[in-house]
Amino acid sequence: MDVASFLRQSSVLVVAGKGGVGKTTVTAALARAAAQAGLSVLVVDLEGKAGVPTAFGHDTALEYDEVVLVDETGTTRSADRPAGRMAGTAAGEPIPPGTVRARRITPDDALLEYLADHGMRRISKRLVSSGALDVVSTAIPGIRDILVLGKVKQIERSQVADLVLVDAPATGHAMTFLSSAKGLLDAARSGPVRAQAADVVELLSDPARCQVVLVTLPEEMPVNEVVEAAYQLEDRIGVALGPVVVNACLADRPALRTDPSAAAAEVGATLTTGQAAALDAAARFSLHRQAFQQEQLDRLADELPLPQLRLPDLVSGSIGPFELDILTTALSHGIEHLPDVPGVPSGPGLR
Ligand SMILES: Nc1ncnc2c1ncn2[C@@H]1O[C@H](COP(=O)(O)OP(=O)(O)OP(=O)(O)O)[C@@H](O)[C@H]1O
Ligand SMILES: [Mg+2]
Repeated sequence: MDVASFLRQSSVLVVAGKGGVGKTTVTAALARAAAQAGLSVLVVDLEGKAGVPTAFGHDTALEYDEVVLVDETGTTRSADRPAGRMAGTAAGEPIPPGTVRARRITPDDALLEYLADHGMRRISKRLVSSGALDVVSTAIPGIRDILVLGKVKQIERSQVADLVLVDAPATGHAMTFLSSAKGLLDAARSGPVRAQAADVVELLSDPARCQVVLVTLPEEMPVNEVVEAAYQLEDRIGVALGPVVVNACLADRPALRTDPSAAAAEVGATLTTGQAAALDAAARFSLHRQAFQQEQLDRLADELPLPQLRLPDLVSGSIGPFELDILTTALSHGIEHLPDVPGVPSGPGLR
């Protein structure tokens, strides 16, 4: 499937998964792939970490103000300067095609904006700085989540970007994050909380507007967790699921199956018995890891009927622009090989 068509299937992609599996890395790679395919992209970070900017070559954590990660020329720009000043456009204006911007959304920011939009600008700053949100969120569990998702919905509705990518919190919290709106909708009979919750539920249950991309590793526990998370997301939240991204896959290396002494002899070298034994042991260890990985990938395919997008294990512990390019190429390649059918499995598709 063509990368642009694939990434245009839904205006919001929420990237979710267990802690540390590569959600932020995959968010960055999806953003890069989408921009390369000509889409305008807004990355939404919820935690104020520097992972996404770092992948684009910057070291500043994201803040409320939008920053440019990839500009119109396809190059990255300093993430520590507000996009508005740099490009001469205010945040909230349409993002140009082929570019990536990013910002952070916190419940406090979202509440401030909500109050300002509803004619309470004068009191909003004082309310937020007084810690009123803490009081409200104790009284109404889930209010923080729907404030943030409500803001995501507002961004989506304003159509400033072709694709909004949300780097979600780790699975346990993500489940609460995404299910809060439904809970509040059941609890609140009327009023602004219900209206906001209803809007969020509407966003989450429309596959053309929002899908969740689950990220996992080709390992036993992460595979178990992603399968469970996928069914819970469908059953409890009714959100559509895109392909599952299997991050950090070991490459198949057929050379590991050759005899070290024979391979050395082919290039005119002779190995000592100790060298040959050490190489043989290393090769057997790697083959064992590959076989185990394959088992997990097969199990994932059996237990979760979603297409898989596999990304390579880059060994390097940190993801910068060089690594991001490799991952983006692999991701785009995987997308191009997805079945060319409109829509991805959603709703009852898992059962
Ligand atoms: N394909 C890969 N190859 C090698 N290292 C990777 C790969 N993907 C991610 N990493 C590294 O693994 C670590 C975790 O990745 P990342 O921060 O993207 O995960 P996360 O799911 O967002 O974590 P958290 O739950 O803490 O937000 C990082 O150090 C990252 O640089
Ligand atoms: Mg992260």
